[in-house]
Amino acid sequence: MDKTTAQAHAHKEVAAAHKHAPSTGAKAVAGSERVDPRERLIVALDFPSAEKAMEMVERLDGCCLWFKVGMELYYAAGNQVIEGLRERGYEVFLDLKLHDIPNTVAGAVRSVAGVGASLLTVHAGGGEPMMKAAVQAASAPGAPKLLAVTVLTSMDAAELRAVGVGGAHGPGGTLHSQVLRLARLARAAGIDGLVCSAEEVEAVRAAVGPEAQLVVPGIRPAGAPGRHDDQRRVASVTEAIARGASMLVVGRPITEAAHPARVAAGILAEIATSHS
Ligand code: C5P
Repeated sequence: MDKTTAQAHAHKEVAAAHKHAPSTGAKAVAGSERVDPRERLIVALDFPSAEKAMEMVERLDGCCLWFKVGMELYYAAGNQVIEGLRERGYEVFLDLKLHDIPNTVAGAVRSVAGVGASLLTVHAGGGEPMMKAAVQAASAPGAPKLLAVTVLTSMDAAELRAVGVGGAHGPGGTLHSQVLRLARLARAAGIDGLVCSAEEVEAVRAAVGPEAQLVVPGIRPAGAPGRHDDQRRVASVTEAIARGASMLVVGRPITEAAHPARVAAGILAEIATSHS
């Protein structure tokens, strides 16, 4: 089998596997039941073009089910990249981190609702009316589930203070309580899940219960110790799962590796042996 045929074959297998084992969505959340490790790993495709993103998808050769399309890729390639991923049988997490007045965010949600993404992010810091407007706009059939970003994993307590949040309860405590405040606000607005760091995921899980989908970026797998890039609040795969993460987002540790598929396989193996 030549490489192109082999890749097409791998993509078909992804689609077929998915057909038989549809996305667990909120079910992956509680973590009390065993789910396919591939349902818990989202590979961040932070690339400047659809070509580069698809090259990475092909190098991963069907070993992952979920890809994250963030601002860099979406602004460069638009819906085409989402459609390309869907045609190959993958699930898409559209990480646009919407943050604007309620009317504008609702319009943005409607604009992308039919494209095929399964998850879409808004910033919890946009406030309850903004999140409620997003929830309302995402109520159409086929629209993505919404996740609210609490505090970016690239921020530490000092950075949070610099934008005017906290001071009263000490650095760590302030960050923690800000994440919890935003998580509760998002759930009160009807948002399906949250994006938070592994440092807060245990407390968030305790605060919002077993049904919420908790997505954790800032993961640095065992094979990449000491590697933080611009992330401040990082953890290993095992730590994040043990603390209650439903799904993990991993970008550069996979996409900048010499052998991305090998790193992804290692992460999937770590997920499989992690205990929630
Ligand atoms: O390369 P790395 O693994 O650090 O990528 C993490 C991904 O998760 C990036 O695409 C980033 O935009 C996203 N993200 C994050 N922190 C959040 C929300 C999303 O790092 N709070």
